[in-house]
Formats: sequence, structure tokens, C-alpha cells
Amino acid sequence: MTQLLEILGCQYPIIQGPIGQLNDPKMVAAVSEAGAFGVLALGFITDTEKVRQMVNEVKELTDKPFGANLMIAMNPNNEAILEILAEAGVKVVTTSAGSPKKIYPKIKELGLKGLHVTLTAQLAAKATDADGIIVSGMESGGLRTNRPESTNLILVPVVCDMVDVPVVAAGGIADRRGYQAALALGAQGVQIGTAFLASEESPASKAWKEAIVGCPEAGTALLPLGRMTMRTIINPKLEELMASSKDFSQEYNLGDAYQAWSTGDFDRFPAGAGQISALIKDIRPIKDIIEGMIS
Ligand SMILES: Cc1cc2nc3c(=O)[nH]c(=O)nc-3n(C[C@H](O)[C@H](O)[C@H](O)COP(=O)(O)O)c2cc1C
Repeated sequence: MTQLLEILGCQYPIIQGPIGQLNDPKMVAAVSEAGAFGVLALGFITDTEKVRQMVNEVKELTDKPFGANLMIAMNPNNEAILEILAEAGVKVVTTSAGSPKKIYPKIKELGLKGLHVTLTAQLAAKATDADGIIVSGMESGGLRTNRPESTNLILVPVVCDMVDVPVVAAGGIADRRGYQAALALGAQGVQIGTAFLASEESPASKAWKEAIVGCPEAGTALLPLGRMTMRTIINPKLEELMASSKDFSQEYNLGDAYQAWSTGDFDRFPAGAGQISALIKDIRPIKDIIEGMIS
């Protein structure tokens, strides 16, 4: 058994990637029931009672292990949330969007394990308290930086050579080929965002899932958002803006993203998704996606 599977306690080293405010205990339970590691996205949930409810809902649906993602810089209630998770018997959290130094003392105090998400090798080197590193190459969906970044083909082996803890590859994986490639690069597991986002059980809108299924190769771009960027699916409005020489960095507001994605108003904010959308051809049950990967 790998170190990562020992930490996660599940059958397959496949972790559900958090998708911002998109959250559904049923989907988390479906991932865990299928043998992978379901993760509640708690990055934006500050109401501790709501956290307790969501955790209990997952526990009613599955007795398999699951975890939660905490976005370090986004949520002032992370410490209280960690206490609720520990009380409820959750053993592993993933952490992202902030310095691990702020949260790992509490994770350790509660006897939990933590896997920290980083976008660069430089940041991976700083996550010395984490029990594992999830590296997210530039092909991934989600928020990115506006600085130079590597794909997982480079990032995964570089980080594997640097750290002693298990490495998980996030980005560009939706099938057996991507899964096997990540393991060949030295990762002990994978984190899946876009493929689960477009699954049958996902609470994402039909329009959002269809945008992913319809996305061609080279059909995503990094949308400028100040010092950040977000990988989104190119649509006619975005294509026009990209073709003009004008600076369109003020055109979109990240605060509009979830409303736009839930209504399919992609002119307001283009659909968030990874480059892997090009390989996602239909909306499938989570169990099929996972079985396809490990087959
Ligand atoms: C629309 C979207 C929103 C995301 N939001 C978050 C987030 O709030 N927090 C986080 O840690 N990761 C976030 N991610 C990253 C995913 O958890 C995951 O690491 C990434 O999607 C993996 O790459 P893939 O999309 O190629 O599978 C997001 C990804 C997408 C597609």
C-alpha cells in the first residue's frame, strides 16, 4: 500500500477536487462510495452549523472515508471548522489558497492529516508541515496566477524529486491514460476537478456541464483577474476580447462567476474548467469515471 492510500484510507488514490462554492454532500458520498476520496468544499462556508450539517449528511450516505478542503486565506472560521471535522471523525483535509503555516499547527494539534495544494515547486518546498503535496499544473481548472507556470509533465517530477511526502497530481486527468501518466511521473495519486464537475451527480448547471462536454482541444484560456487568472472555456465574447488588442482585464468580475455558471450566462463570466475538457465527451456517473481511470 502506498503512503498516500494509508493516509486517505480509501481504495483508489483519486481525490475529489473542490470547485469553489459548488458543493453537494451527495456527490461527495458518491465519490467515496465508488472507492475514491470524496471532499467537501468548505472554502467559502463560514457558518459552522452548516458545516456540521453537511458532514452529517455525507456520513448518513456513506461509511467510507471522506475529507474536506479548507481555503486558508478565504475563510476566517477554519480553526472552528477543523474542530467540527475532527469531532465528526474526518481524518484528512486538503488545504489550498494560502500559507500552510497558518493552519497546519491546528491540523496537527487535532491529529488530522493534511495535503496541501500548490501551483509551483517553490511553494511546495515551503509546505514542510503537510503530510502530502497536491501539485496543480497550469492545465488545471480553477484559479491560477499571472506568473509563469509549468504543466504537470514538468511540475510533478520536479516536486517528487524535492519532497519526501506523497505527491498528488491535479490537472489534466479524466481517464486511464492521464491517471497512469501521473503515476508514471512519480505521483502516488490524482486530484480530479473538471471531470467530476461534469459528472451526472454534480450539482453544476446543465449549461456548465454542456460547455465542458462541447469544449474542443485548445478551447480554454486563462482569464486575467488582476494578479490572478482563471482557466475558462472560450466563448464568442471572450474570443473577440482576446483577438482585440485592448486590455480586457476589467471586463469580468470573479464575484459574478457562480451566478453566471449556474444560469449559463457565460458572457457575464465564462465557464470555469480545465484543459482536460477536451477529453470529456459525455456526462457520466462518477462510478463510471473512477472505474474507467483505474481499469
Ligand atoms: C471551476 C473550478 C473551480 C475551482 N475552485 C477551486 C477552489 O475553490 N479551491 C481549490 O482548492 N481548487 C479549486 N479548483 C481546482 C480543483 O479542485 C482541481 O484541483 C483542478 O480542477 C484539477 O484540474 P482538472 O480540472 O484538470 O481536473 C477549481 C477548479 C475548477 C474547474
